[in-house]
Amino acid sequence: MDAAQLKQQAAEYAVQFIQPGMVVGLGAGSTAILAVRHIGHLLAGGQLRDIVGIPCSTATEAEARQLGIPLTTLEEHPVIDVTIDGADEVDPQLELIKGGGGALTREKIVAQATRREIIIVDESKLVPALGTTWAVPVEVVPFGYGSQQAWLEGLGAQVKLRQGREGQPYRTDQGNYILDCNFGPIARPAELAETLKRRTGIVEHGLFIGLAADVISAGKDGIRHLTRQ
Ligand code: A5P
Repeated sequence: MDAAQLKQQAAEYAVQFIQPGMVVGLGAGSTAILAVRHIGHLLAGGQLRDIVGIPCSTATEAEARQLGIPLTTLEEHPVIDVTIDGADEVDPQLELIKGGGGALTREKIVAQATRREIIIVDESKLVPALGTTWAVPVEVVPFGYGSQQAWLEGLGAQVKLRQGREGQPYRTDQGNYILDCNFGPIARPAELAETLKRRTGIVEHGLFIGLAADVISAGKDGIRHLTRQ
């Protein structure tokens, strides 16, 4: 089974936890969008009804609209029942790196408003320590980003300004830049998260600590459903 099929399995498994009447966070990225499409499919077929979605990115919003999923906002519904989102890395404590698709800030706003954050991944995303295979995305205000880069390098990271398709700096949905920070395996991710959060000019970072309730991982031996202890 290839990675696309594994992602599809994880997405369909997670969508089972959505019940009529729920407010549902709709994640971003290539795995989460499979869950969004499956929700659209179930709504269209009448197997699911009476839900409203809150998208984590403008791309997810556009796709959800096309699929006819009713949408709402955090102003109308400040508490979300279930969010289904992807991740770039998952450690054994279910802490995450997210933001490979650039939507980390909205994803974290949605996650912290969510009662049950369900993360869907293929098994290649499970790592012994965050930072093993993936850099931590750090969203920064464009003004003065060079000083953030130098500060992050001072913390020991190799830092790259994320590029857009035509080689220009990539812009998030908020119009900010992303600095991808390779720290290598991170011994104390919660401490690093706090350190990054205190720096003016850093809008948000891709360390998601204490936010995932469930991780659904699809692999060659089937689905593993991990829950936060
Ligand atoms: C989007 O900004 C991300 O947080 C994604 O959820 C994450 O990068 C996983 O993406 P894929 O499902 O495309 O691997």
